[in-house]
Amino acid sequence: MVKTLSEINCSGRKVLLRCDFNVPVKDSVVGDDTRIREALPTIKELLDGGAAVILMSHLGRPKGAPDPALSLKPVAERLSELLGKKVIFCPETSGEVASRMASELSPGEVMVLENLRFTSKEKENDPGFASELASLGDLFVQDAFGTVHREHASMVGVPSLLESAAGRLLEKEIKYLSRGLEPEHPMVLVLGGAKIETKIGVIEFMLDRADIIIIGGGMAYTLLKEKGHSIGRSLFDAENVETARRIIKKAEEKGVDLVLPVDYIVSDSVDSPRSIDKTQGADIPDELMGVDIGEKTRELFDSKIRQTRTVVLNGPMGVFEISEFSEGTKAVLKSIAGATAAGASTIAGGGDTVAAINGLGFSREDFTHVSTGGGASLKFLEGRELPGIKVLG
Ligand code: 3PG
Repeated sequence: MVKTLSEINCSGRKVLLRCDFNVPVKDSVVGDDTRIREALPTIKELLDGGAAVILMSHLGRPKGAPDPALSLKPVAERLSELLGKKVIFCPETSGEVASRMASELSPGEVMVLENLRFTSKEKENDPGFASELASLGDLFVQDAFGTVHREHASMVGVPSLLESAAGRLLEKEIKYLSRGLEPEHPMVLVLGGAKIETKIGVIEFMLDRADIIIIGGGMAYTLLKEKGHSIGRSLFDAENVETARRIIKKAEEKGVDLVLPVDYIVSDSVDSPRSIDKTQGADIPDELMGVDIGEKTRELFDSKIRQTRTVVLNGPMGVFEISEFSEGTKAVLKSIAGATAAGASTIAGGGDTVAAINGLGFSREDFTHVSTGGGASLKFLEGRELPGIKVLG
Protein backbone atom coordinates (compact mmCIF):
# COMPACT_ATOMS: atom_id res chain seq x y z
CA MET A 1 0.00 0.00 0.00
CA VAL A 2 1.21 3.52 -0.72
CA LYS A 3 2.18 6.00 1.97
CA THR A 4 -0.64 8.35 2.99
CA LEU A 5 -0.85 11.82 4.51
CA SER A 6 -0.95 10.26 7.98
CA GLU A 7 2.63 9.07 7.48
CA ILE A 8 4.26 12.34 6.50
CA ASN A 9 5.20 15.39 8.50
CA CYS A 10 4.46 18.46 6.45
CA SER A 11 4.85 21.10 9.16
CA GLY A 12 6.88 24.07 7.93
CA ARG A 13 7.47 22.38 4.58
CA LYS A 14 6.47 23.24 1.03
CA VAL A 15 4.25 20.55 -0.40
CA LEU A 16 3.88 20.09 -4.14
CA LEU A 17 0.38 18.73 -4.55
CA ARG A 18 -0.58 17.27 -7.94
CA CYS A 19 -4.32 17.51 -8.48
CA ASP A 20 -6.53 16.76 -11.45
CA PHE A 21 -8.14 20.14 -12.01
CA ASN A 22 -9.02 19.20 -15.58
CA VAL A 23 -12.51 20.68 -15.27
CA PRO A 24 -14.78 22.33 -17.83
CA VAL A 25 -13.91 26.03 -18.20
CA LYS A 26 -15.85 28.32 -20.54
CA ASP A 27 -15.16 32.04 -20.92
CA SER A 28 -12.93 31.92 -17.83
CA VAL A 29 -15.69 30.40 -15.69
CA VAL A 30 -15.44 26.92 -14.15
CA GLY A 31 -18.44 24.67 -14.88
CA ASP A 32 -18.67 21.42 -12.91
CA ASP A 33 -16.23 21.94 -10.01
CA THR A 34 -16.48 18.42 -8.56
CA ARG A 35 -12.80 17.68 -9.10
CA ILE A 36 -11.82 20.87 -7.24
CA ARG A 37 -14.17 20.09 -4.34
CA GLU A 38 -12.82 16.55 -4.11
CA ALA A 39 -9.30 17.93 -3.62
CA LEU A 40 -10.32 20.11 -0.66
CA PRO A 41 -9.84 17.54 2.14
CA THR A 42 -6.19 17.03 1.18
CA ILE A 43 -5.50 20.74 0.75
CA LYS A 44 -7.10 21.56 4.12
CA GLU A 45 -5.30 18.75 5.90
CA LEU A 46 -1.93 19.93 4.55
CA LEU A 47 -2.66 23.54 5.54
CA ASP A 48 -3.82 22.47 9.00
CA GLY A 49 -0.60 20.46 9.30
CA GLY A 50 1.44 23.62 8.82
CA ALA A 51 2.43 23.24 5.15
CA ALA A 52 2.64 25.76 2.34
CA VAL A 53 0.81 24.17 -0.59
CA ILE A 54 1.87 24.48 -4.23
CA LEU A 55 -0.78 23.03 -6.51
CA MET A 56 0.00 21.62 -9.94
CA SER A 57 -2.43 20.42 -12.60
CA HIS A 58 -3.08 20.23 -16.30
CA LEU A 59 -6.18 21.57 -17.99
CA GLY A 60 -7.36 20.30 -21.37
CA ARG A 61 -4.99 19.37 -24.14
CA PRO A 62 -3.00 22.46 -25.18
CA LYS A 63 -0.48 21.84 -27.92
CA GLY A 64 2.58 22.11 -25.67
CA ALA A 65 2.43 25.94 -25.65
CA PRO A 66 0.49 28.55 -23.63
CA ASP A 67 -3.18 28.85 -24.56
CA PRO A 68 -5.05 31.56 -22.62
CA ALA A 69 -8.35 29.65 -22.93
CA LEU A 70 -6.77 26.82 -20.93
CA SER A 71 -5.22 28.88 -18.14
CA LEU A 72 -5.69 27.55 -14.60
CA LYS A 73 -6.39 31.06 -13.31
CA PRO A 74 -10.20 30.56 -13.20
CA VAL A 75 -9.58 27.30 -11.33
CA ALA A 76 -7.43 29.12 -8.77
CA GLU A 77 -10.25 31.66 -8.33
CA ARG A 78 -12.85 28.92 -7.83
CA LEU A 79 -10.55 27.17 -5.37
CA SER A 80 -10.20 30.39 -3.43
CA GLU A 81 -14.01 30.65 -3.15
CA LEU A 82 -14.31 27.04 -2.02
CA LEU A 83 -11.48 27.29 0.51
CA GLY A 84 -12.63 30.68 1.73
CA LYS A 85 -9.09 32.01 1.59
CA LYS A 86 -6.66 33.72 -0.75
CA VAL A 87 -5.09 31.53 -3.43
CA ILE A 88 -2.01 32.92 -5.17
CA PHE A 89 -1.81 32.26 -8.91
CA CYS A 90 1.62 31.77 -10.46
CA PRO A 91 1.55 32.50 -14.22
CA GLU A 92 4.45 30.10 -14.84
CA THR A 93 5.03 26.41 -14.11
CA SER A 94 8.79 26.63 -13.66
CA GLY A 95 11.67 29.05 -14.10
CA GLU A 96 12.62 32.21 -12.25
CA VAL A 97 9.16 33.57 -11.49
CA ALA A 98 7.86 30.24 -10.21
CA SER A 99 11.00 29.69 -8.07
CA ARG A 100 10.76 33.13 -6.53
CA MET A 101 7.03 32.87 -5.83
CA ALA A 102 7.46 29.39 -4.35
CA SER A 103 10.32 30.52 -2.11
CA GLU A 104 8.20 33.42 -0.80
CA LEU A 105 5.30 31.15 0.16
CA SER A 106 4.68 30.83 3.92
CA PRO A 107 3.04 27.99 5.89
CA GLY A 108 -0.75 28.19 5.53
CA GLU A 109 -0.53 29.77 2.06
CA VAL A 110 -1.74 28.21 -1.20
CA MET A 111 -0.41 28.78 -4.70
CA VAL A 112 -1.60 27.33 -8.01
CA LEU A 113 0.91 26.98 -10.85
CA GLU A 114 -0.13 27.62 -14.46
CA ASN A 115 -1.24 24.69 -16.67
CA LEU A 116 1.56 22.10 -16.73
CA ARG A 117 0.79 21.22 -20.34
CA PHE A 118 1.77 24.69 -21.54
CA THR A 119 5.07 22.97 -22.26
CA SER A 120 5.38 19.67 -24.13
CA LYS A 121 7.95 18.64 -21.50
CA GLU A 122 5.13 17.62 -19.15
CA LYS A 123 3.76 14.92 -21.45
CA GLU A 124 7.26 13.93 -22.56
CA ASN A 125 8.14 13.25 -18.92
CA ASP A 126 11.21 15.40 -19.43
CA PRO A 127 13.65 14.83 -16.54
CA GLY A 128 14.84 18.46 -16.57
CA PHE A 129 11.26 19.73 -16.27
CA ALA A 130 10.53 17.24 -13.49
CA SER A 131 13.54 18.44 -11.49
CA GLU A 132 12.57 22.10 -12.04
CA LEU A 133 9.12 21.31 -10.64
CA ALA A 134 10.57 19.24 -7.79
CA SER A 135 12.89 22.11 -6.83
CA LEU A 136 9.85 24.21 -5.89
CA GLY A 137 8.90 21.97 -2.95
CA ASP A 138 10.19 19.71 -0.18
CA LEU A 139 7.54 17.00 -0.39
CA PHE A 140 5.22 15.61 -3.08
CA VAL A 141 1.60 14.55 -2.60
CA GLN A 142 -0.29 12.80 -5.37
CA ASP A 143 -4.04 13.42 -5.49
CA ALA A 144 -4.64 13.52 -9.27
CA PHE A 145 -6.44 10.20 -9.55
CA GLY A 146 -7.93 11.17 -12.92
CA THR A 147 -4.43 11.35 -14.40
CA VAL A 148 -2.69 8.34 -12.78
CA HIS A 149 -2.69 6.47 -16.09
CA ARG A 150 -0.42 9.16 -17.61
CA GLU A 151 3.35 8.80 -17.40
CA HIS A 152 4.00 12.55 -17.31
CA ALA A 153 6.67 14.65 -15.58
CA SER A 154 4.41 15.81 -12.72
CA MET A 155 2.94 12.32 -12.31
CA VAL A 156 6.04 10.11 -12.23
CA GLY A 157 9.08 12.38 -12.65
CA VAL A 158 8.52 14.57 -9.58
CA PRO A 159 7.60 11.76 -7.14
CA SER A 160 10.74 9.88 -8.10
CA LEU A 161 12.75 12.90 -6.90
CA LEU A 162 10.96 13.82 -3.66
CA GLU A 163 9.56 12.08 -0.60
CA SER A 164 6.01 11.30 -1.74
CA ALA A 165 2.62 10.25 -0.45
CA ALA A 166 -0.92 9.72 -1.68
CA GLY A 167 -3.50 12.39 -0.88
CA ARG A 168 -6.91 11.62 0.61
CA LEU A 169 -8.70 11.60 -2.75
CA LEU A 170 -6.26 9.13 -4.29
CA GLU A 171 -6.51 7.00 -1.15
CA LYS A 172 -10.32 7.01 -1.37
CA GLU A 173 -10.34 6.16 -5.09
CA ILE A 174 -7.97 3.21 -4.55
CA LYS A 175 -10.01 1.96 -1.57
CA TYR A 176 -13.37 1.93 -3.35
CA LEU A 177 -12.31 1.00 -6.86
CA SER A 178 -10.41 -1.95 -5.38
CA ARG A 179 -13.79 -3.37 -4.34
CA GLY A 180 -14.42 -3.79 -8.07
CA LEU A 181 -11.21 -5.81 -8.43
CA GLU A 182 -11.90 -8.16 -5.53
CA PRO A 183 -15.67 -8.02 -5.41
CA GLU A 184 -18.12 -9.38 -2.95
CA HIS A 185 -20.40 -11.69 -4.96
CA PRO A 186 -22.71 -11.62 -6.77
CA MET A 187 -21.09 -8.86 -8.80
CA VAL A 188 -22.48 -7.06 -11.82
CA LEU A 189 -20.59 -4.92 -14.31
CA VAL A 190 -22.93 -2.45 -16.03
CA LEU A 191 -21.52 -0.87 -19.17
CA GLY A 192 -22.91 1.64 -21.62
CA GLY A 193 -21.60 4.38 -23.87
CA ALA A 194 -20.65 4.30 -27.50
CA LYS A 195 -17.27 2.64 -27.90
CA ILE A 196 -16.50 -1.03 -27.31
CA GLU A 197 -12.82 -0.31 -27.75
CA THR A 198 -12.45 1.80 -24.60
CA LYS A 199 -14.24 -0.82 -22.46
CA ILE A 200 -12.82 -4.04 -23.86
CA GLY A 201 -9.99 -4.15 -21.28
CA VAL A 202 -12.48 -3.92 -18.42
CA ILE A 203 -14.77 -6.53 -19.96
CA GLU A 204 -11.90 -8.99 -20.47
CA PHE A 205 -10.68 -8.50 -16.89
CA MET A 206 -14.16 -8.68 -15.39
CA LEU A 207 -15.08 -11.85 -17.30
CA ASP A 208 -13.01 -13.58 -14.59
CA ARG A 209 -14.66 -11.72 -11.71
CA ALA A 210 -18.19 -10.64 -12.49
CA ASP A 211 -21.19 -12.94 -12.24
CA ILE A 212 -23.25 -10.74 -14.54
CA ILE A 213 -22.21 -8.32 -17.30
CA ILE A 214 -24.94 -5.95 -18.48
CA ILE A 215 -24.28 -4.07 -21.69
CA GLY A 216 -26.55 -1.23 -22.83
CA GLY A 217 -25.97 2.04 -24.65
CA GLY A 218 -24.36 2.36 -28.07
CA MET A 219 -21.99 -0.55 -27.45
CA ALA A 220 -24.80 -3.07 -27.32
CA TYR A 221 -25.87 -2.87 -30.98
CA THR A 222 -22.72 -4.49 -32.34
CA LEU A 223 -23.17 -7.38 -29.88
CA LEU A 224 -26.85 -7.69 -30.76
CA LYS A 225 -26.05 -7.80 -34.47
CA GLU A 226 -23.51 -10.49 -33.78
CA LYS A 227 -26.28 -12.45 -32.06
CA GLY A 228 -28.37 -12.24 -35.22
CA HIS A 229 -30.62 -9.25 -34.50
CA SER A 230 -31.36 -6.46 -36.96
CA ILE A 231 -30.19 -3.11 -35.63
CA GLY A 232 -31.46 -0.72 -38.32
CA ARG A 233 -29.43 2.48 -38.44
CA SER A 234 -28.16 2.13 -34.85
CA LEU A 235 -24.52 2.66 -33.97
CA PHE A 236 -22.47 -0.19 -35.40
CA ASP A 237 -18.80 -0.61 -34.61
CA ALA A 238 -17.53 -2.39 -37.74
CA GLU A 239 -13.96 -2.42 -36.46
CA ASN A 240 -14.87 -4.34 -33.34
CA VAL A 241 -17.09 -7.12 -34.68
CA GLU A 242 -14.43 -9.69 -33.87
CA THR A 243 -14.15 -8.28 -30.34
CA ALA A 244 -17.92 -8.51 -29.90
CA ARG A 245 -17.85 -12.13 -31.01
CA ARG A 246 -15.04 -12.90 -28.57
CA ILE A 247 -16.92 -11.30 -25.65
CA ILE A 248 -20.03 -13.38 -26.35
CA LYS A 249 -18.00 -16.59 -26.68
CA LYS A 250 -15.90 -16.00 -23.56
CA ALA A 251 -18.94 -15.13 -21.45
CA GLU A 252 -20.51 -18.43 -22.49
CA GLU A 253 -17.35 -20.39 -21.74
CA LYS A 254 -16.90 -18.77 -18.34
CA GLY A 255 -20.54 -19.01 -17.33
CA VAL A 256 -20.92 -15.23 -16.99
CA ASP A 257 -24.50 -14.02 -17.48
CA LEU A 258 -24.11 -11.56 -20.39
CA VAL A 259 -27.28 -9.48 -20.41
CA LEU A 260 -28.19 -7.40 -23.47
CA PRO A 261 -31.24 -5.21 -24.13
CA VAL A 262 -34.46 -6.97 -25.15
CA ASP A 263 -36.31 -3.88 -26.40
CA TYR A 264 -35.56 -0.32 -27.41
CA ILE A 265 -36.73 3.23 -27.73
CA VAL A 266 -36.11 4.06 -31.38
CA SER A 267 -36.08 7.22 -33.44
CA ASP A 268 -35.30 8.47 -36.94
CA SER A 269 -32.66 10.87 -35.64
CA VAL A 270 -30.70 11.71 -32.50
CA ASP A 271 -30.37 15.45 -33.11
CA SER A 272 -33.79 16.32 -34.50
CA PRO A 273 -36.15 13.42 -33.84
CA ARG A 274 -39.44 13.55 -35.75
CA SER A 275 -40.65 10.12 -34.75
CA ILE A 276 -40.08 8.28 -31.48
CA ASP A 277 -41.33 4.74 -31.02
CA LYS A 278 -40.64 1.59 -29.04
CA THR A 279 -39.82 -1.88 -30.30
CA GLN A 280 -41.51 -5.05 -29.12
CA GLY A 281 -38.27 -7.01 -29.11
CA ALA A 282 -34.55 -6.61 -29.70
CA ASP A 283 -34.92 -6.09 -33.48
CA ILE A 284 -34.87 -2.54 -34.80
CA PRO A 285 -36.59 -1.60 -38.10
CA ASP A 286 -34.28 -0.71 -41.02
CA GLU A 287 -35.01 3.02 -41.12
CA LEU A 288 -34.73 3.62 -37.34
CA MET A 289 -32.01 3.68 -34.71
CA GLY A 290 -31.95 2.68 -31.05
CA VAL A 291 -31.54 5.68 -28.74
CA ASP A 292 -32.41 4.22 -25.33
CA ILE A 293 -33.24 0.90 -23.69
CA GLY A 294 -36.93 -0.02 -23.55
CA GLU A 295 -39.19 -0.75 -20.58
CA LYS A 296 -38.78 -4.54 -20.56
CA THR A 297 -35.01 -4.05 -20.61
CA ARG A 298 -35.17 -1.64 -17.67
CA GLU A 299 -37.08 -4.26 -15.68
CA LEU A 300 -34.68 -7.00 -16.72
CA PHE A 301 -31.61 -4.94 -15.76
CA ASP A 302 -33.28 -3.97 -12.47
CA SER A 303 -33.95 -7.60 -11.55
CA LYS A 304 -30.26 -8.42 -12.15
CA ILE A 305 -28.80 -5.38 -10.36
CA ARG A 306 -30.94 -5.77 -7.24
CA GLN A 307 -29.67 -9.25 -6.46
CA THR A 308 -26.00 -8.24 -6.35
CA ARG A 309 -23.53 -7.19 -3.64
CA THR A 310 -21.14 -5.27 -5.91
CA VAL A 311 -22.06 -3.04 -8.85
CA VAL A 312 -19.57 -1.32 -11.17
CA LEU A 313 -21.11 1.16 -13.61
CA ASN A 314 -19.48 2.92 -16.53
CA GLY A 315 -21.46 4.58 -19.31
CA PRO A 316 -25.06 5.64 -20.02
CA MET A 317 -27.78 3.41 -21.49
CA GLY A 318 -28.88 5.84 -24.20
CA VAL A 319 -28.65 9.42 -25.42
CA PHE A 320 -29.43 10.71 -21.94
CA GLU A 321 -28.65 14.35 -22.83
CA ILE A 322 -32.00 14.41 -24.67
CA SER A 323 -34.79 14.09 -22.13
CA GLU A 324 -36.99 11.76 -24.25
CA PHE A 325 -34.06 9.34 -24.45
CA SER A 326 -32.93 9.54 -20.82
CA GLU A 327 -35.45 7.23 -19.10
CA GLY A 328 -33.35 4.06 -19.53
CA THR A 329 -30.26 5.62 -17.97
CA LYS A 330 -32.42 7.06 -15.20
CA ALA A 331 -33.97 3.65 -14.50
CA VAL A 332 -30.56 1.96 -14.25
CA LEU A 333 -29.26 4.68 -11.92
CA LYS A 334 -32.38 4.18 -9.79
CA SER A 335 -31.78 0.43 -9.64
CA ILE A 336 -28.18 1.03 -8.54
CA ALA A 337 -29.27 3.60 -5.94
CA GLY A 338 -31.63 0.89 -4.64
CA ALA A 339 -28.73 -1.57 -4.45
CA THR A 340 -26.69 1.02 -2.50
CA ALA A 341 -29.56 1.45 -0.03
CA ALA A 342 -29.70 -2.34 0.35
CA GLY A 343 -26.01 -2.42 1.35
CA ALA A 344 -24.25 -3.29 -1.90
CA SER A 345 -20.96 -1.61 -2.87
CA THR A 346 -21.78 0.52 -5.89
CA ILE A 347 -19.02 2.21 -7.87
CA ALA A 348 -19.58 4.57 -10.78
CA GLY A 349 -16.97 6.08 -13.08
CA GLY A 350 -16.54 7.90 -16.39
CA GLY A 351 -17.27 11.44 -17.54
CA ASP A 352 -20.66 10.64 -19.13
CA THR A 353 -21.74 8.56 -16.15
CA VAL A 354 -21.02 11.41 -13.74
CA ALA A 355 -22.79 13.86 -16.06
CA ALA A 356 -25.82 11.53 -16.09
CA ILE A 357 -25.78 11.18 -12.28
CA ASN A 358 -25.69 14.96 -11.87
CA GLY A 359 -28.05 15.77 -14.74
CA LEU A 360 -30.76 13.20 -14.03
CA GLY A 361 -31.44 14.11 -10.41
CA PHE A 362 -29.20 11.67 -8.55
CA SER A 363 -26.60 12.54 -5.96
CA ARG A 364 -23.24 11.10 -5.06
CA GLU A 365 -24.84 9.65 -1.92
CA ASP A 366 -26.83 7.29 -4.17
CA PHE A 367 -23.55 5.43 -4.77
CA THR A 368 -20.86 4.06 -2.50
CA HIS A 369 -18.30 5.82 -4.67
CA VAL A 370 -18.36 8.06 -7.72
CA SER A 371 -14.89 8.20 -9.22
CA THR A 372 -13.31 11.45 -10.39
CA GLY A 373 -11.50 9.45 -13.05
CA GLY A 374 -12.61 8.80 -16.61
CA GLY A 375 -9.90 6.89 -18.46
CA ALA A 376 -8.06 6.33 -15.17
CA SER A 377 -10.98 4.52 -13.52
CA LEU A 378 -11.37 2.25 -16.55
CA LYS A 379 -7.65 1.45 -16.56
CA PHE A 380 -7.78 0.77 -12.80
CA LEU A 381 -10.70 -1.62 -13.33
CA GLU A 382 -8.66 -3.47 -15.95
CA GLY A 383 -6.49 -4.51 -13.01
CA ARG A 384 -3.53 -2.57 -14.40
CA GLU A 385 -0.69 -1.13 -12.40
CA LEU A 386 -0.96 2.60 -13.08
CA PRO A 387 2.26 4.65 -13.35
CA GLY A 388 1.10 7.50 -11.09
CA ILE A 389 0.34 5.02 -8.28
CA LYS A 390 3.20 2.60 -8.89
CA VAL A 391 5.80 5.34 -8.41
CA LEU A 392 4.47 6.00 -4.90
CA GLY A 393 4.85 2.37 -3.81
C1 3PG B 1 -9.13 13.17 -17.60
O1 3PG B 1 -9.95 14.11 -17.58
O2 3PG B 1 -9.45 12.02 -17.97
C2 3PG B 1 -7.76 13.42 -17.05
O3 3PG B 1 -7.63 14.71 -16.58
C3 3PG B 1 -6.69 13.08 -18.05
O4 3PG B 1 -6.75 13.94 -19.17
P1 3PG B 1 -6.06 13.51 -20.53
O5 3PG B 1 -6.90 12.39 -21.11
O6 3PG B 1 -6.07 14.74 -21.40
O7 3PG B 1 -4.68 13.03 -20.23
